[in-house]
Amino acid sequence: MEKTNRVSFGSKLGFLAAAVGSAVGLGNIWRFPYELGQNGGFAFLIVYLFCAFLIGWPLMLSEFAVGRMGQSNVAGTFIKITGTRRWSWIGVMGAVCVLLVIGFYAVVCGWSLEYIYQAISNQFSGQTPQGLSESFTIFTTGTWRPILWLVIFLIINCAIVVGGVQEGIEKTSKVLMPFLFTIIVVLCIRSITLPGGLEGLKFLFTPDFSKITPSVILSAMGQAFFSLSLGMGCMLTYGSYMRKENNLGKTAFQVVGMDSLISVLCAMTIFPAVFALGIDPSKGPELVFITLPNVFNHIPGGYFWGILFFILLAIAALTSTISMLEVITAYVSEQWNINRKATAIGTTLVIMLLAIGCSLSLGVWSDFTILGFNLFDFFDNFTAKILMPIGGVAISIFFGWVVDRKSREAELTNGGVLQLKYLKLYTFLLKYIVPLAILAVFIDQLLR
Ligand code: TRP
Repeated sequence: MEKTNRVSFGSKLGFLAAAVGSAVGLGNIWRFPYELGQNGGFAFLIVYLFCAFLIGWPLMLSEFAVGRMGQSNVAGTFIKITGTRRWSWIGVMGAVCVLLVIGFYAVVCGWSLEYIYQAISNQFSGQTPQGLSESFTIFTTGTWRPILWLVIFLIINCAIVVGGVQEGIEKTSKVLMPFLFTIIVVLCIRSITLPGGLEGLKFLFTPDFSKITPSVILSAMGQAFFSLSLGMGCMLTYGSYMRKENNLGKTAFQVVGMDSLISVLCAMTIFPAVFALGIDPSKGPELVFITLPNVFNHIPGGYFWGILFFILLAIAALTSTISMLEVITAYVSEQWNINRKATAIGTTLVIMLLAIGCSLSLGVWSDFTILGFNLFDFFDNFTAKILMPIGGVAISIFFGWVVDRKSREAELTNGGVLQLKYLKLYTFLLKYIVPLAILAVFIDQLLR
């Protein structure tokens, strides 16, 4: 393969920060705790960890390897590796999928900014749980405020991606990720030490394996995909900026480990607080935006903890949306030969339109539905249940079956430099377990 002068991340730590930044997002703080609460606590956690390490890790390693091997964007890399356009649809589909995901994701990102504002201006205080719930509904179904916040969020996001891989994405991640980790640890300690908080830990860590049902396994796998940013070329694009001497397997393992650790810490923050106040732990998506402000109202220093929590949510969301915008920016600017800055700005404008549509679909446009879903839920379901699994299977088949064994192993071992004890296990997981497991989930979802 010809040598390229593709930009790369400046350091291993910088890469790790960016990849963990992509993985850690609303999926960890907002989605994981409520999935866990609704799917039986500890049993879900165990199943989740199995999915993350046995399916997520091989897939992430494959995305890294495919990206670094072709040294190109999400579609270009398949063309460079095979010399034909036959497989580039995987990448095009990935880019489209990212566009739809960021469309609804950005709406929730905007909410996080509104809640930072509400926390700072002390608006939770004195409100009853009922009042908090009403003001959440009034805000999210409103027209202008959510749009204002999502536009602000997307402008910040765009500015970082315009800055480039090293100066924009890497620098931002290196500053924000340690900060994010510190906030989570502090919040977690605060929550566990609340009177009655230990009950929450008991709920989290009491095994009840009778709760493991097929539907729990499916939810856990979907969650692993989403949380690890897999199936639509995010990790592939980041992998293309990795240096030839980096150890891909080890890095993928570290990303999966950090992401899982942060998910567990988030659950260990939220449930003790929820139990300390005697709130039902099986709340859905409103857990973070309604239940938590109620918690902050009742704990000492709640004003301060509330601000910290929503800043955490916004930072985590930002480092994830950066990775999504980068996928599309790299794809469009490289494949269509357009200047990177112009592409990032143009893409952001398109994303804004989609996100505004999603936001309005919760309010004034709620009558407009596709297959019975409003736009927001349609984007969410269509990407998570259809496009991401197809993308995941396609990547595992491509790297496991289409790429020949010699090139695959050369990429994984950095040309024979690394001795990988897990090579056999990895290949087995990649060729058989990953595609079959995803297909099982996929078919099961279609039959529902
Ligand atoms: N992983 C992020 C989260 O947990 C979301 C995300 C970023 C994502 N990039 C992605 C999800 C690519 C799927 C695919 O919030």
